[in-house]
Amino acid sequence: MENINVPQHIGFIMDGNGRWAKKRAMPRNFGHSRGAEVFKKTINWCRELGVKCATFYAFSTENWKRPDDEIKGIMKLLRQYIKDIREFSDEDIRIIILGDISAFDEDIRAELLDITDTSKDNTGFIVGIALNYGGRAELALAAKKISERCVLGELSPDNITEQLVESCLYTSEMPPLDLVIRPSGEQRLSNFLIWQAAYAEFVFMDVLWPDFTKKDLENAIEEYAGRNRRFGGV
Ligand code: FPP
Repeated sequence: MENINVPQHIGFIMDGNGRWAKKRAMPRNFGHSRGAEVFKKTINWCRELGVKCATFYAFSTENWKRPDDEIKGIMKLLRQYIKDIREFSDEDIRIIILGDISAFDEDIRAELLDITDTSKDNTGFIVGIALNYGGRAELALAAKKISERCVLGELSPDNITEQLVESCLYTSEMPPLDLVIRPSGEQRLSNFLIWQAAYAEFVFMDVLWPDFTKKDLENAIEEYAGRNRRFGGV
């Protein structure tokens, strides 16, 4: 990994947990549990490889459509992992939650607010966790924030710029998204960081998320480093 262009910010779509469990004739939540372990390991691998920020898609605005017991299982995991996430904040890691957490139980919400607040001055690494997140909902929220300021007369529609929209997104204090990694063979964004991914590179991998390894991450970074990013230029 030496002397190569390492992405500053990687987005991870943690896909394939259900299929991984099914292959083992186990309940889907068994896959999520393995997936959550890989989430934790991936943060450390990113830090070791010189990445500055990693955002993980943990629960989408569409995931509420899943069976009740699966949602309960993911919430249970989240409660368990909140302790680990808190430990991260003691290691100079900043935690940023992306999404509308008002839909979560009070204890989870309070913990998440506390963790984001206590870690806000950490600069060593940034972990983004997308929870009840959807890219379209994020853009609608930005539109709402901006129009409220217009109604109050603080802002004129003529002054609405890309920078202003960006400042209203959950990622406003993160480096630009360079790379999105989606394991499990699916090749779509699924409403993840749709604005931020405008010029990101995509690496799709056949491995299921619970089987994702440091070698897979290194391979994705190498593929990224070998690409020629022109940002619309020549
Ligand atoms: C996608 O796999 C995965 C999810 C919808 C949930 C991801 C959640 C975790 C890894 C655990 C909780 C997270 C934290 C941060 C503690 P899928 O179920 O869609 O898999 P499939 O496509 O094989 O069915």
